[in-house]
Amino acid sequence: KEQNIAIAIDGPAAAGKSTVAKIVAETLSYIYIDTGAMYRAVTLTALKHKVDLDDEEAILDLLLHTEIELTQKEKKQIVLLDGFDVTNDIRTLQVTNNVSYVAKLPGVRKEMVKRQQALANNRGVVMDGRDIGTHVLPNAEVKIFLIASVEERAKRRYDENTQRGIESNMEVLKEEIEKRDLIDSKREASPLVKAEDGIELDTTSLSIKEVVERILTIVYKYVNQ
Ligand code: CDP
Ligand code: CDP
Repeated sequence: KEQNIAIAIDGPAAAGKSTVAKIVAETLSYIYIDTGAMYRAVTLTALKHKVDLDDEEAILDLLLHTEIELTQKEKKQIVLLDGFDVTNDIRTLQVTNNVSYVAKLPGVRKEMVKRQQALANNRGVVMDGRDIGTHVLPNAEVKIFLIASVEERAKRRYDENTQRGIESNMEVLKEEIEKRDLIDSKREASPLVKAEDGIELDTTSLSIKEVVERILTIVYKYVNQ
């Protein structure tokens, strides 16, 4: 069916949001928007400019003068910061461990939500993040809240690192994930929480394929109703 809907995928760190969102978007020929990458990009700029991460005014000023583009290059999602490819730079441990401090600033969130809504703009879209179903796309036709046990999520990150030849410690990964989830869930401005009309999907013992199939089933049910 030729129907363009919005699919919001939220959930805690390493639940599989981006992996699954990408496949769902490809399957439906929808665009995919990784909002976490946008918060990572502004964090990277702030770190580069050595701005205090709680200096909201300074960070907002940087953000307002910074262009963040999500685009594709040779079928890969890439992130451009003022035209420079920062796809890898936004995944460093330094960015990962600081992003939640920047993402809790209300002014930064307001600007991000505005940009994210403009990107979605009535197209078939799969967007993943923390506040998509609650704030960015409150009218999304399908809202998924992906969860998994913190042990499983740490293991997924661990395996991902191993595959990339990066050594890591499962306990440390678990602590980093828990810390970020706590800041994301407790912040005042649009915290990480399941939307009232969101569907929770526990992926602890599900494969990527199974998660994708469950989401597509929900989407097709909506589209064909
Ligand atoms: O992929 P991973 O779970 O490591 O994180 P991400 O999706 O790249 O998001 C990084 C961080 O950005 C999160 O921990 C949140 O602090 C923030 N974020 C947010 O506040 N709101 C969003 N819609 C997306 C990300
Ligand atoms: O975006 P988010 O932080 O929620 O997760 P991600 O970056 O997609 O990372 C999840 C990792 O777990 C990836 O390495 C996936 O291959 C793996 N994984 C998954 O996403 N879903 C499963 N059901 C099983 C494994």
